[in-house]
Amino acid sequence: MTQALDFHTLKALLEWQIDLGATEAIGDAPINRFEAPAKAPQPIRPQDPAPQDLPTPPPAANQTEIAQTLATQATDLVSLRAALAAFDGCDLKKGARNMVFADGNPAARVMVIGEAPGREEDLHGRPFVGAAGQLLDKMFAAIGLSRGSEDPDTAIYITNILPWRPPQNREPTPQEIAMLMPFVAQHINLAAPQLIIAMGNTPCAALLGQRGITRLRGTFTTAFDRPVLPMLHPAYLLRNPIAKRDAWCDLLTLKARMHPT
Ligand code: URA
Repeated sequence: MTQALDFHTLKALLEWQIDLGATEAIGDAPINRFEAPAKAPQPIRPQDPAPQDLPTPPPAANQTEIAQTLATQATDLVSLRAALAAFDGCDLKKGARNMVFADGNPAARVMVIGEAPGREEDLHGRPFVGAAGQLLDKMFAAIGLSRGSEDPDTAIYITNILPWRPPQNREPTPQEIAMLMPFVAQHINLAAPQLIIAMGNTPCAALLGQRGITRLRGTFTTAFDRPVLPMLHPAYLLRNPIAKRDAWCDLLTLKARMHPT
């Protein structure tokens, strides 16, 4: 006999499935496929066109082009956010609880670009609010910058390459990055930061077309007509605390660039 599961067990089972990457409830009730009526084979009638005579369906609209159109139509950050929310071309959206657009002061001199929301960010709809985010806040606080500052000189503005959480926090695919890049590019144009921090490998790949963050970090380069400083991702620093000294050097490089003597 089947025993009814209590609320807490059911909740734990559901959370476990979500952690494994389940993103959609298929239906409220199970379907007995053995009872579903088999579809009768359709006779081929002479008047039916042969498959090769059927008109070719129009090619699926290129989602990157749609993203490009939506993004370039946005004239400010509010309309860019709305355009991104209206974009249905990326399947990650279906599995995400929230879209994560940005946090901090949009007028900040420094814009920090990370990879993609994780579990906490997906829950709260804000970038970098989990353990890595707490470290990120401490790192920038060490050179006098914060997302809460109203002064553009001491503020940071934070976003990610992807606005929706990839299942099981997997790395974004090159296709996902390419599809969402028009929004990132317009985000940079509209926020118009003086300096960009590429936080980790994914933003380096997306903005600079290069990977190898341990080699790239700490040296300013240019993308979107702006100086970009690649830095080690705080999640990497949590796993490799020894690398915090490199991150400290990079923060000092940023500070020196902001306040040349
Ligand atoms: N890691 C990121 O790259 N971005 C976030 O928002 C959170 C964790």
